[in-house]
Amino acid sequence: MNIPSHIFTIFGASGDLTKRKILPALFHLFAEGRIGPDCIIVGTGRKQMDDETFRDLTLEALAEAGFGGGENAAKWCTGCIFYHCLGDGSPENYKRLGERLAGLEKEHGLPGNRAFYLALPPDAFPQVIENIGEAGLADSGGWSRLVIEKPFGRDLDSALRLNEHIHRWFEEDQIYRIDHYLGKETVQNLLVFRFANAMFESIWNRDRIDHIQITVAESLGVEHRARYYDKAGAVRDMVQNHIAQLLTMITMEVPGRFEPRAIMREKVKVLRSIMPLQPGDIVLGQYDAGDGKPGYRDEEGTGEDSITPTFAAIRLHVDTWRWKGTPIYIRTGKRMPVKTTQISVVFEHPPVCFFRAMEGCTPRPNILNISIQPDESFTLSFDVKKPGEPFTLESQDLHFSYADTFGRLPDAYETLLLDIMTGDQTLFVHADEVEASWKFFEPALDHGLPLARYAAGTWGPDEVAELLLREGRTWSVRQGG
Ligand code: BG6
Repeated sequence: MNIPSHIFTIFGASGDLTKRKILPALFHLFAEGRIGPDCIIVGTGRKQMDDETFRDLTLEALAEAGFGGGENAAKWCTGCIFYHCLGDGSPENYKRLGERLAGLEKEHGLPGNRAFYLALPPDAFPQVIENIGEAGLADSGGWSRLVIEKPFGRDLDSALRLNEHIHRWFEEDQIYRIDHYLGKETVQNLLVFRFANAMFESIWNRDRIDHIQITVAESLGVEHRARYYDKAGAVRDMVQNHIAQLLTMITMEVPGRFEPRAIMREKVKVLRSIMPLQPGDIVLGQYDAGDGKPGYRDEEGTGEDSITPTFAAIRLHVDTWRWKGTPIYIRTGKRMPVKTTQISVVFEHPPVCFFRAMEGCTPRPNILNISIQPDESFTLSFDVKKPGEPFTLESQDLHFSYADTFGRLPDAYETLLLDIMTGDQTLFVHADEVEASWKFFEPALDHGLPLARYAAGTWGPDEVAELLLREGRTWSVRQGG
């Protein structure tokens, strides 16, 4: 793949995301020869430091990510890494940044292609975007692209305002809204699984599928991110974005072409056709102490009366010809027993129970389990006859594991960064998608819904089992690889 020469400017260069994700991913792309020395990285921020200090910080970040010590890292830092201090963030300072970028372009013979990556807290987005726009940083003779991390707004109104604000300086085809779930190989593989294999398509509907479950469980708590998380909570942090992406990919119709607009249109159609949420479809929870871990309200940076949900489960119905009557259950939470992201597609029971007269022979529904992480795999369960007597059925698995077949998978950020550089928007979130998603999940935001309690290290509040039980179903989660 040919990556055009460009400058990749990171706003928030000394922040956590830059250190943990962006710099290691950029370096790994360089080390593998996917990007060359004509991809110049400029870190910016309010902190006063020179190029050398930022290069040292970069080396530290690489070491922490397991890429330390090599000559290659030192070579990359010296040749490709620069820093520019934005001081008080005034328009004049952005003009100076423009001069610095132009200077680097001249020095390295670059054609003026620029990416601006906002690795910043969301309340900083509007001002920084305005400063970039007003200082003309995006008018440099080549392409210019704006990259924005989630959360994109905190509800429909704020997302609409932010989109309008950005569109004053950037066209939609210049905007790359990141949802890092879309960079995960297994999430992209949902498209391949569904649209490159004819086998499942004819049964991918309400006639053959009883229901679908999406589980995104994390064993960690809120860690050091309470300042952000306490204002966000589980619905804003995970459901409106990551889970909405999984949901649309698993339920959308076949797009006309493998092309960003066509895929986006199908995803938006799903979001717009979900039946409005009712309070009875939503369970919110917050963790108390348990399993030797503190409760949410005792974590550093939260309040003793915080009502931020750290768990959310929702039952929803996609009201289309394909899905009418097939419920979809989603759940996500912090401080669950394990870290796992899974989609379970639970097929219908056989229409007639042929073996009903025999004890131990009640057939179970087939379940297709798609494990997104940490053990990226597909598992299809089906019943077999257990050899010998008495006549008994046993559930067995057909299993495909990514790691066994392909080894290391690229980090989501590596995939997304390359796409930004090549101008491929397929794995990014369009304005219409963000808006449709906020609109749908709005009733699960702060509207005085009850907040159930659960102990850290459990699968959430008791009420969450009820969401399925009252329809005769149970949550399923696959253990192991
Ligand atoms: C982030 C959320 O977007 O995704 C975090 O802000 C969450 O709270 C993280 O922990 C989960 O990502 P992953 O890739 O580890 O599932």
